[in-house]
Amino acid sequence: MSGTLKIAILGTGVIGAAWATGFLTAGHTVTAFDPAEGAEERLRAQVASFGGEAGTGTTSALDNLIFAPSLAEAVADADFVQENGPERLEVKQSMLAEIDAAAPESAIIASSTSGFAPSQLNAQATKAPGRIVVGHPFNPAHLVPLVEVVPSAATSAAVVDRALAIYEAIGKKPILVRAELPGHVANRLQAAMWQEAYSLVERGVVTVADIDTAIAYGPGLRWAILGPLAQQSLSGGAGGMRHVLDHLGPPQEVWMHDLKQVHLGEDLKEKLVSGVDEELDGRDLTVLAQQRDDMLLELIALKRKYGELP
Ligand SMILES: NC(=O)c1ccc[n+]([C@@H]2O[C@H](COP(=O)([O-])OP(=O)(O)OC[C@H]3O[C@@H](n4cnc5c(N)ncnc54)[C@H](O)[C@@H]3O)[C@@H](O)[C@H]2O)c1
Repeated sequence: MSGTLKIAILGTGVIGAAWATGFLTAGHTVTAFDPAEGAEERLRAQVASFGGEAGTGTTSALDNLIFAPSLAEAVADADFVQENGPERLEVKQSMLAEIDAAAPESAIIASSTSGFAPSQLNAQATKAPGRIVVGHPFNPAHLVPLVEVVPSAATSAAVVDRALAIYEAIGKKPILVRAELPGHVANRLQAAMWQEAYSLVERGVVTVADIDTAIAYGPGLRWAILGPLAQQSLSGGAGGMRHVLDHLGPPQEVWMHDLKQVHLGEDLKEKLVSGVDEELDGRDLTVLAQQRDDMLLELIALKRKYGELP
């Protein structure tokens, strides 16, 4: 997709600032709004810092950032709106109704919501509720390429295609989620893993640190390169996925049927909290998060080098 778009960013906390960075560094103009005291100064500082970290540079792009005095003014002539307000349904519904009323009918309205469905979000919108979709990023959202696009039943194929194209053009890796499910897709996949990890800890099979070693030094290393399914097909040699499923499918089904449901009661929570404390052994969480981001950047650069990312 070519051409400069007018992007509106509503809510400029962690996620809004990451989106502003992505759209600005791709050459679009961004009009932002957030009612919090000092929000504009924080946003400008955060965009400069995110741009520096991602290596995209934002010094001149910051000239294309406008801070609007109200939500309605921020979206008045927008081509694309990204909503990043607090994760509370009543707040989202009223924000999206206000955006829908004030934005041009041709604008697409995407919400960063981690859990709500577009048909919940658009409940109070009356002008063109079909153009309200979910566009869910992943933290740290200025670095991680995945965006989950979830339309409602009222959304046209043209709106979906355009939202996917706009995200792709700023260097994201969008996927289309074809049903409205709690947690969309990637968080459901994480939840499946967390469920079994919590269960194994609860049953005393391994420690919290062992779980993290089992993934971060095992399959997790491969999953960052290829997803779990394409990766699985490589285990089948020349026979690929067909051979893997014929050969290892039956035992795998036995493991799947043995997986346990968990209840996050106080005892289990205590085990998980003390297990992580023991594993991290007083390491500074800020330093650890910075190291995670630094390594993530190198991994992303590696994916670019091998042509797996634009
Ligand atoms: N933090 C994450 O890991 C993460 C990841 C993916 C998606 N999300 C989603 O992104 C959204 C934002 O999350 P966040 O972590 O940036 O939260 P945050 O608390 O950092 O930011 C929310 C911002 O919204 C502002 N706000 C409140 N009312 C507003 C209004 N009427 N209009 C405009 N702005 C308003 C607040 O002042 C605040 O700055 C949530 O829906 C969340 O579920 C978060």
